[in-house]
Amino acid sequence: MITLNSPSQPNIQTSIQRQLSIPIANRSSRLRGVLNSTTADLLPPRKRHRPRPRRAHCRASKGKLRVLAALCGCGIRSVRYLVEAEADFVFANDANDENRKVITENLSQVESGSGDEARWAVSLTDANRVMTECYLKRDFFDLIDIDSFGSVSSFLRSSFNALKLNGLLYVTSTDGLWSDGHRPQQTLAAYGAYVQPMPYLNELGLRMLIGGAVREASVLGYRVTPLFSYYSYHGPIFRVMLQVNRGKLPDNKHYGFIGYCNSCGSCKEYSWVELGRISCPCSDSKVSKALVVSGPLWTGPLHDTAYITEMLSLAEEWGWAGSVTGTDLDKLLNQMVAESDPKLPFGYIKLDEVASRAKVNSPTLRAVVSTLQEEGYAVSRSHIESNAIKTNCPMEDCVRIVEQLHQR
Ligand SMILES: C[S@@+](CC[C@H](N)C(=O)[O-])C[C@H]1O[C@@H](n2cnc3c(N)ncnc32)[C@H](O)[C@@H]1O
Ligand SMILES: [Zn+2]
Repeated sequence: MITLNSPSQPNIQTSIQRQLSIPIANRSSRLRGVLNSTTADLLPPRKRHRPRPRRAHCRASKGKLRVLAALCGCGIRSVRYLVEAEADFVFANDANDENRKVITENLSQVESGSGDEARWAVSLTDANRVMTECYLKRDFFDLIDIDSFGSVSSFLRSSFNALKLNGLLYVTSTDGLWSDGHRPQQTLAAYGAYVQPMPYLNELGLRMLIGGAVREASVLGYRVTPLFSYYSYHGPIFRVMLQVNRGKLPDNKHYGFIGYCNSCGSCKEYSWVELGRISCPCSDSKVSKALVVSGPLWTGPLHDTAYITEMLSLAEEWGWAGSVTGTDLDKLLNQMVAESDPKLPFGYIKLDEVASRAKVNSPTLRAVVSTLQEEGYAVSRSHIESNAIKTNCPMEDCVRIVEQLHQR
């Protein structure tokens, strides 16, 4: 194993655990997805199970899988695209010239090939420059991976330009400080969203990232849809897989404002036409300082159910899920499937907040979930916050339920 002695990337093993993604292919489509790194994140290196993956169907059905890792770091994820996803070609780029040796050494595990048979190439330059040059040469990619320290917004426009239609844009941002709700001017500058403190800020971070991509894509006449969204507090990391197509979002659907009332705890989505008329019923529809509004953000689903289900089935087929591997990957993917229930609104409710409003001790999550289900509400756990639920049950009813559970 080759070690990269850079302070920012201590070694390859660490990189594997922290930021991996393996493109997978659906039986019927050219390129449908990426099995997220959380597989590896959750699995101790010694126990990691590495079966030989089934050959990607995308090449068998419609064409090739060409990947551009525009900020590839030490190149380890690029190696995984080649070896595990069997990408036809990976273009690995990083602006830091000091990474040249380690990227090349890592990629050299795979025969480079030449001419039309080339499997990989390395470049050491600015990501926007590489993507713009690819666009000008009409050299388009099926998947572009943007894994940035900090914000990704400055790379969005050129990545859309270098992507094939129906391609995938995989963006990872680590600007957690920006999504803590105390730097609205910075979120506005980077993602065009004014984000204020709310109880589910880490979900807002994902929604801000997707919303920023929606906005940039629409400038070019593209529509983006999140296939899955993932938050990890290690970093923190905000990671989203987007599918990019021509067209626009119908009537700004899923791109609007999110309100949270600090007084009654209710959450609501507001559309653009409601601007200037936003209030909470708890203050008799008068202007209230308790009501905080953030946006515009992505307000639609964070995951595509069919897509995550496909990932789960592939993970099982590859032996990446289940008790054999000792990972929690299937747990995470099952949680994401549950979160993608279209009846569930944005955000999540922390049980501690409900308990505090009910003035009782926090109940067990299991008890709250089963009571909500008995009462006919949609409910799921949140992969973002362990002691929280996503539900269409209003806060006041959650409080009532928690009070009743306390009295039992
Ligand atoms: C988070 S790391 C990428 C890690 C990588 N995905 C991996 O799995 O090892 C971010 C990388 O972006 C590179 N970088 C920063 N700004 C860049 C730019 N404008 N163009 C290209 N690379 C850049 C840095 O040198 C760094 O290696
Ligand atoms: Zn209210």
